[in-house]
Amino acid sequence: MKRQVKNNVYWVGKVDWELRKFHGDELSTHKGSSYNSYLIQEEKTVLIDTVWTPFAEEFVENLAREIDLSKIDYIVANHGEVDHSGALPALMKHIPDTPIYCTANAVKSLKGQYHQDWNFQVVKTGDKISIGNGKELVFVEMSMLHWPDSMAAFLTQDNILFSNDAFGQHLANDKLFNDQADQHDLFYEAIKYYANILNPFNSILRRKLDEIISMNLPIEIIATSHGIIWRDNPMQIVEKYSQWANDYQENQIAIVYDTMWNGTKLLAEKIAEGIGLADSDVVVKVFNLAKNDANDVITEVFKSKTVVIGSPTMSNNILHSVAGFIHLMKLLRFKGKKAAAFGCYGWSGESVKVLNESMANAGFEVVSEGYRNHWNPDVESQKAAIDFGKTIAKL
Ligand code: FEO
Repeated sequence: MKRQVKNNVYWVGKVDWELRKFHGDELSTHKGSSYNSYLIQEEKTVLIDTVWTPFAEEFVENLAREIDLSKIDYIVANHGEVDHSGALPALMKHIPDTPIYCTANAVKSLKGQYHQDWNFQVVKTGDKISIGNGKELVFVEMSMLHWPDSMAAFLTQDNILFSNDAFGQHLANDKLFNDQADQHDLFYEAIKYYANILNPFNSILRRKLDEIISMNLPIEIIATSHGIIWRDNPMQIVEKYSQWANDYQENQIAIVYDTMWNGTKLLAEKIAEGIGLADSDVVVKVFNLAKNDANDVITEVFKSKTVVIGSPTMSNNILHSVAGFIHLMKLLRFKGKKAAAFGCYGWSGESVKVLNESMANAGFEVVSEGYRNHWNPDVESQKAAIDFGKTIAKL
């Protein structure tokens, strides 16, 4: 059933309470998500985005209960990724000639995925369509936030920014709005979304935020394509994005490792102890990659000023869990963060060298030669690990 957002604007999306993985299995979504589609019923009827493919038939059936599908005048496809365009093929079977407003890149992605020559109407930033009753939809290209085809649309008079992925969160909720949500869940999922999806595009995002601000749009509601709609002080999430887009960090150090026989684990705990002894203000968090969700750890890396990374030596190298995590950090293009390495070894002991090279290659400033420990840490080695932690805290 459609749910009112404001005046003649309704939510017609899908809440996915069961979703636990997204982008294949790349991104954890512990609290589900939603695919937000919007229906505007002015003199013209406009549909903004659809839902993910598995819910396509359900979406079209529900929409047909609300309106005669042939009465849809315009479709706006803000983004071609399947979680928003996935119901287009099912919908377009009913209304094959309806114009789809989208960017030139969205034509490529929609054609590339669905192999259909629908009635695409290409728009650029500043282009607008009149939807009656004096209202217009103004389009804003959001290229690389986070796909080349991404776009937002602003509805005048109602002052709603349909922002698509930007400002979203993977969070299933029974209510629509931010003032009705669990605030901890909302902001955790918002920062996790930013850290794991948008961080590589920080510089583009900074320019885009400036551009949107310079357009002087009187934004009263930010209607995202995932999770909660921002209606209570919607600019609070824009301000958060401004902070996050500027190589964000808190006074936090993350110790991230994997271990085989708990020697490297013991080092991690002793290093944490040393950091705490040297600096009682810094927040220290310790993560065994085998026991923690990688996307949650990425969120903590995003918040950290320093990452202390650990692996025992295996086959003259590091454990694949740690190598994979460093690869993920590299993809996410963190900037302005420091790194140091540690690890136990029995024979040749290359792990710290490999970790240092890998972290430098991933864009971190390696601030120490690292700490290597032969065999399991004895009392002296544990003291040395504590001292290493103290040194890291001071760097
Ligand atoms: Fe929510 Fe980029 O799709």
